[in-house]
Amino acid sequence: MAIERIIDASQHTDDTEEQRIEISLRPKTFDDYIGQDRLKNNLKLAIAAAKKRGEPIDHVLLYGPPGLGKTTMAAVIANEMGTNIRITSGPAIERAGDLASLLTNLSDGDVLFIDEIHRLGRTVEEVLYSAMEDFKLDIMIGKGPAARSVRLDLPKFTVIGATTRTGALSAPLRDRFGLIHRLEFYKPTEITDIIVRASNILGSQIHGAAADLLSTRARLTPRIANRLLKRVRDYADVNGDGIIDQPTAEAALGLLEIDALGLDAGDRNLLISIIDNYGDNPVGLNTIAALTGDEATTIEDFYEPYLLQIGFIERTPRGRRVTPRAYTHVNRSLPPKTL
Ligand code: ADE
Repeated sequence: MAIERIIDASQHTDDTEEQRIEISLRPKTFDDYIGQDRLKNNLKLAIAAAKKRGEPIDHVLLYGPPGLGKTTMAAVIANEMGTNIRITSGPAIERAGDLASLLTNLSDGDVLFIDEIHRLGRTVEEVLYSAMEDFKLDIMIGKGPAARSVRLDLPKFTVIGATTRTGALSAPLRDRFGLIHRLEFYKPTEITDIIVRASNILGSQIHGAAADLLSTRARLTPRIANRLLKRVRDYADVNGDGIIDQPTAEAALGLLEIDALGLDAGDRNLLISIIDNYGDNPVGLNTIAALTGDEATTIEDFYEPYLLQIGFIERTPRGRRVTPRAYTHVNRSLPPKTL
């Protein structure tokens, strides 16, 4: 079983309590959704135009690191359009038949949300092309010489695809999306607002200084912010009067071994392994994976985006390089300057 890190932005899918709370905290409208202003403005325009024409909105591709609200945004879009959303994922659609049954059960205007869309199989992807482009489903009926292809009309639906990496998506699939947007890391003030909003929904009192402190540890990621809030709330309920003030937040976070920038032992180990073995020379992704014992995709999707965001790692044409700022953070002396 994979070790679940508290600051891992992926959904802890075997944690139903986490899912239940996460769903209750999800904003339902653009007004409730904090941050991602550029994306919201683009979507509001697309939705207003589609409503005016009486059509569904164009297919939308959302990409970016996990935990930034792609699923939430898809649900907001469906809600603002006044339609239903069906949620599935690339790996869950194993055969073309699975996709056919999903598509034929949609109604006009429905949103089909496909998480991890880069993990769709080739044949499924090809069926999806014509479904997205012409709202037709091409299926084969029968086998051998008697096999024939039929074309079924589909309702006019919207695909919202989510992926951590657009690079992993085939060009023909990417081309089927009219709107392609990246979710950005949130601003610290937005994370603070998200924490305060979540505390209100959970019925917890939180002091401003405690919300600010949690925000600095949450990797600019709402899912992590909400997870930290729950742990701190547990601590305040057990060790105090339930009110989350700064000393309580500090003590609870201390137990989690998350440092001032939100890095955990896994992140620090990654940085130290690169520094001790390669100094400030560029290293390839697979080399880093071999050093830490993680999958290359885990490094790329989970560790790296935030480390890049805070300037601890940079990408060069020859690989990833640890920056001087990271050296200081993990208490390593800076490498001698290469002339
Ligand atoms: N909870 C999780 N993400 C959120 C967001 N972007 N705005 C408000 N609440 C959230």
